[in-house]
Amino acid sequence: MKNTLKIVTVTMMVFTLLSCQDKRKPNYQYMPNMYESVGYETYGEYNVFENDQEAKLPVEGSVPRGWMPYDFENSNKGYQTAKDSLKNPIAYTEENLAEGKALYDIYCAVCHGAKGDGQGILVQREKILGVPAYNDAGRAITEGSIYHVMYYGINSMGSYASQTSIEERWQIVAYVEKLKAELDGKAPRVDKLDESDAPSDMIPAVNADPEVAVAEEAEETTNE
Ligand code: HEC
Repeated sequence: MKNTLKIVTVTMMVFTLLSCQDKRKPNYQYMPNMYESVGYETYGEYNVFENDQEAKLPVEGSVPRGWMPYDFENSNKGYQTAKDSLKNPIAYTEENLAEGKALYDIYCAVCHGAKGDGQGILVQREKILGVPAYNDAGRAITEGSIYHVMYYGINSMGSYASQTSIEERWQIVAYVEKLKAELDGKAPRVDKLDESDAPSDMIPAVNADPEVAVAEEAEETTNE
């Protein structure tokens, strides 16, 4: 009887002691490096790495996602080559022109004016000088030159390469060309994507079929 009591007491004490241990926590670690490796901070400076830095430089010639190399260099020669040979890859559709207008009003109109006549609000308030109208004969800008100056900037006009994507820049180019044509009193270029559509200059000014004329008018007003 005495023995049983002893056994029970000891067993209870063992259980009591064991139940205090939290199995969810790691036990004592001697030489913790055996369990946990040394982590390097991203962009940290460590002399074990090349250039003493954790982050590696991209391989030469790497192209970031969503970015394309631009072939024309930032020089007079590059400008001239772009002016002569660079063409707008996007179609001059109503949508692209509308996108171009929205972006133009955000980025360019403060200086160049909503009409592209060089009379933006900053010019009117005499904050900046020498902003040309897009139809300035001496400059004779082209789609290529417009893109080029947006990419690199020109004199007191900064670059827009970081704020805009390639497509957005070309949409702005399309819209600037439209403004230029309007300043010159010419009809702006508008492409119809649908091949079955007759090119706009082939549509007779006075349409013989009144129903077609009405349909076209309706289309024009919805596109505004
Ligand atoms: C801070 C005012 C300012 C803003 C904003 C600005 N420009 Fe200009 N832009 C100028 C000035 C100034 C010049 C004349 C630079 C020179 O040749 O000295 C110029 C020149 C130009 C030219 C003629 C360049 C040539 O080939 O001679 C074009 C095209 C042009 N800008 C387009 C744009 C477009 C497109 C935007 C918007 C993305 C824009 N600019 C935004 C100030 C501005």
